Parts: sequence; structure tokens; C-alpha cells
Amino acid sequence: MKNFNVKSLVQSHILKLQSYASARAEYSGENGIFLDANENPYGNLNRYPDPYQQAVKEKLSSMTHIPTHQIFIGNGSDEVIDLAFRLFCTPAKDKALIFTPTYGMYEVCAHIQNIKLLSQPLNQNFQIDKNTVLPLLKEQNLKLVFICSPNNPTGNCIEDIDFILENFKGIVFVDEAYIDFSNRESWAKKITQYPQLIVSQTFSKARGLASARIGIAYSSAEIIALFNKIKLPYNISKLNQEAALAALDATEKYQLEIKNILEEKKRLIDKLIKLPIVKRIYPSEANFILVEVTTADKVYKHLIHHKIITRNRNHQLKNCIRISIGKAYENDQLLNTLTKLIAP
Ligand SMILES: Cc1ncc(COP(=O)(O)O)c(C=O)c1O
Repeated sequence: MKNFNVKSLVQSHILKLQSYASARAEYSGENGIFLDANENPYGNLNRYPDPYQQAVKEKLSSMTHIPTHQIFIGNGSDEVIDLAFRLFCTPAKDKALIFTPTYGMYEVCAHIQNIKLLSQPLNQNFQIDKNTVLPLLKEQNLKLVFICSPNNPTGNCIEDIDFILENFKGIVFVDEAYIDFSNRESWAKKITQYPQLIVSQTFSKARGLASARIGIAYSSAEIIALFNKIKLPYNISKLNQEAALAALDATEKYQLEIKNILEEKKRLIDKLIKLPIVKRIYPSEANFILVEVTTADKVYKHLIHHKIITRNRNHQLKNCIRISIGKAYENDQLLNTLTKLIAP
């Protein structure tokens, strides 16, 4: 976008903010006698972690060719979503736009900050309706647009992200939590072309580190500096930075697990679609499938009764349940349990 000025979108008090200068940010050398942070001198986890997670960023940078100053690490990508609202949206004044059905945290984070959320339903192919979205993009005080691709819970990728980027003057946040399972290129490759673009990814899905809480944002150096300005000083623990580094080194494991999950997804779809209770399975580029069944509440309860926990999305999409792809024996158990359920 020409003449893009990110400062005009940032909350004015954030621009003026003097952020906390943590001890580890003031002196970042590794060797020395550290008497600066009131730590306990004894132990293995006694020191505060690197506040900017430089080693993780360097490894990510070597893999993506995105410079470290254009990478932010969050406490899960949920932190990145939350920080985006805090940076750009003034409570009780600014607005954000989402395309529904989609990931629930955009709405929760908006409401925590008292930000008005506009929601535009995806069309029947779960794509953005370009005609109806155009007037929305011109709404006064609309600061943020969230696009989840592959989308949760529908599983498909969103096609017209460039259309939004070309027609919106605010921040476009593309959530790629499930991108590792898709063959598509990441939008992170376009952050130089589009200075208003933020792309989030996560270690919680394909990298298998949901409990370590590691999310990533790729964006312009200016936006990343703003994220750094408002984040809590030590948002990623040392243990979790080490877990992230180890996960990035485990390339074969990462690739093999994705291959297994995608093969299991295909096997599960082939078998599920033959069951009388299954009406439709939506195409998925993620590690889950959205399944329309005869009666979602009944199927969900039947599975819970057998200690198989899925996500009932009936309130968002009639009679749909979202099923994560498990290990082969787990998927077999799901199939066996559903086979016993007779359609109403
Ligand atoms: C689309 C999407 N974005 C973000 C997240 C949150 O991921 P994280 O564990 O990195 O906070 C999820 C979690 O399910 C998700 O589905």
C-alpha cells in the first residue's frame, strides 16, 4: 500500500508510552557477574530469560529468510492477537472485522478491550464475499481485519486475501495457525510488499508444542517494534524458548508427523463418509475436519460417553462437529464408536 503510515493507526498513548526497560534488555551479554535483576544466584532456572528470544528468532530467520527484527514471539499466537487489539484499537471507539464462522479468540479479545466487532459471514464455500465486504472496509474507525487461513473451524484457505489488502487502509492480520498442513505459501512472504500485514503462526499445531505456548508474528519492522514495546518483559520462559529451539531442530520429526496426520486425515475421511450418520465432510487444509452429521448434539454426546472428545460446532454451523486428526488407533476408536451409532 502506498503512503502507508502505521503511526496513524496506533493508539496515541502507545506512541507516547515509555516501555519498561528490563534488566536483561539493558545488558544482554551472557557472561558476567549478574547483580542487576534481584535474582537468586543459585540454581538452573534462577535467571530471567532473554526478553527478545534472539536465538529462536535467529533460527526462524535462517529458515524463513525474514530478518529477526521482523519477527515477534508471543505467548502463543493468542498473545499476538491480543496485542494487535491493544496496539491499534481504542476501546469504545475503534472496530475490528472478522469473517464467520472463525476462531473464537478474535471476538473474546475484542470484547475484553471493549472493541466493536463487525462480522461478515463467509459465503457457502466459506470464502469472503467481495461485493458485500467492500463497503465494510470503508467503515469509520475500522482498524483491524482478521483473516484465518486455513480457517478454524471450516478448514479451508481463504482465497481473496490480496483483495482485502488492496482495498483496506488499516491492519490486515492473517492467522496461519494451520499453514504447515497446507501446500500453500505463507503470506509471511508478502510482508515487504504489504506494510500493513501481520501474519501469525504457532508452534501449537504442527510443531507439537501447544503446552509450551509459542506463537509467531511476521510483519514490518515498525509493527514488530510496537509489539515489543507493549509486551510483558519476559513473555516466553527459558524452558519454552529451549523447547522452541529443539522443535525447530527436529525437522524430520516435524515432517513425518505432518505426513502421518495428512495420511490419517485422508483415511478418516474415506471411512467417515461411508457412515449413515455422516452427511458431508468439508474440504480441509488443516489437521482437523469439519463434519456435518445427522444430529451433532447426539453424535457429540455419544462420543463423550465413550470418552472421545470432539468439538461440537452446532451453534456456529448446524449439525457440524470438528474433529482433530489423532493417532491411527485413536481415529480407529472414533470410527468404531461412530459405526455403532444408528442414524435417527
Ligand atoms: C486459528 C487459530 N489461531 C490461533 C490459535 C491459538 O494458538 P496458540 O496456541 O498459538 O495460542 C488457535 C488455536 O486453536 C487457532 O485455531
